[in-house]
Amino acid sequence: MEQKRSSFTGKLGFILAAAGSAVGLGNIWRFPYLAAQYGGGIFLLVYIILAVTFGFTLMMAEIAIGRKTGLSAIGAFKALNKKFAFLGYLAAIVPALILPYYSVIGGWVTKYLVSFTTGQGTNAATDGYFGEFIAEAGEPVIWFLIFIGITALVVLLGVEKGIEKVSKIMMPVLVLLTVFIAVYTLFMPGAIDGLIYYVKPDFSQFSFMTVLAALGQLFYSMSLAMGIMITYGSYMKKDVSIESSVRHIEIFDTGIAFFAGLMIIPAVFAFSGGSEENLTKGPSLMFETLPKVFDSMPAGDIIGAVFFLLVLFAALTSSISLMETVVSIVMDKLKWKRIPACLAVLGFSVALGVVTSLGNGVWSNIRVLGFVFLDFFDFITNSVIMPIVAIITCVLVGFIIKPKAVIEEVEIGGTKFKAKKLFSVMIKYIAPICIFAILVFSVLEALGVLKV
Ligand code: PHE
Repeated sequence: MEQKRSSFTGKLGFILAAAGSAVGLGNIWRFPYLAAQYGGGIFLLVYIILAVTFGFTLMMAEIAIGRKTGLSAIGAFKALNKKFAFLGYLAAIVPALILPYYSVIGGWVTKYLVSFTTGQGTNAATDGYFGEFIAEAGEPVIWFLIFIGITALVVLLGVEKGIEKVSKIMMPVLVLLTVFIAVYTLFMPGAIDGLIYYVKPDFSQFSFMTVLAALGQLFYSMSLAMGIMITYGSYMKKDVSIESSVRHIEIFDTGIAFFAGLMIIPAVFAFSGGSEENLTKGPSLMFETLPKVFDSMPAGDIIGAVFFLLVLFAALTSSISLMETVVSIVMDKLKWKRIPACLAVLGFSVALGVVTSLGNGVWSNIRVLGFVFLDFFDFITNSVIMPIVAIITCVLVGFIIKPKAVIEEVEIGGTKFKAKKLFSVMIKYIAPICIFAILVFSVLEALGVLKV
């Protein structure tokens, strides 16, 4: 079935839809554990600097490319320059690889929602609960299947709009609840040390890995360097200001991530202490810390249940946008109908997701480049493919179609591109050179060749 390219109604509609894709587990689950792991305040500082420079530039470029060409990534890059058609395919690999493991985490969220709803919250707060859960062969796989099943159903039936409507109400509630939980935890003994760790940069903790981790997180969180914002741009009306929309999405996305960190990192200090071991827990950080917070609250089970329900919605809007992207590429390129395309993507994701889930337990001895499967897929997409896509996008815009092409698109209808000088310099020189350097240095650092 051919679908006509519809447009978002007005600026708010565009911002909300793009924010629905951007705000997800990246903000609430991934950002806090990276910030805890990479030195707290220094990570936060580096992240914010990158967001207003690199993030701004790339999001402007992607949305403008989408709106200019009216096409999604693969077609858009090809339309701009035949030689850059491969970039669309490279970008398309990213959502295909993220969706499976994203859904594994989505499964964990679903499990916690059900635990809290059925009064098992106290249980979930005990040490070792989470580790035992994800190491099981059966249960996490079932929750994963439920999560990806819901995602696939929505994409299959084409009812994303319904989910988006619900999440428009849920999202602001999620923000309020996150702020409430953050404020609550700050009053716990020991939490202030966590606050200081989180907001005060300690420059001795700086390393290239910090910058690479922050950069990867930026791409992930803002749904950049994977073609998604190009698609969103292609739906955007010509009279909507790209620049102010991008500013809004940035503030919204970074704000939520900031409060998620504020809710989790001080709580780690309050409940377990800020030892290195406790701060470098990685993907399990949120799932181990928050149940303890809820357990200490009056009516914690209810608050926990509401919280995980809201997170589930945020995760679903993101997983739906990931799956929709991959499905529409399969439909376009292989000329498949929606249902077979959807089933093929589902089959692929289930296979990869099951492997990822088992990698946390029975297959945890199988390592790829030293990573368990989940960390491997996370690393290869965020720290390798996305930076490469970003560099090539910069070269394309900076030197082939020239920044002027983007600036003209942004200024259609008389809106002024306020930061156009910054944009031009960033996209031509600073962004590609710095991203390349960060990539090289951090690989050297990871290999132990370089010590910072
Ligand atoms: N940005 C989403 C998040 O932060 C993840 C995502 C990436 C969703 C790409 C859709 C597309 O969770």
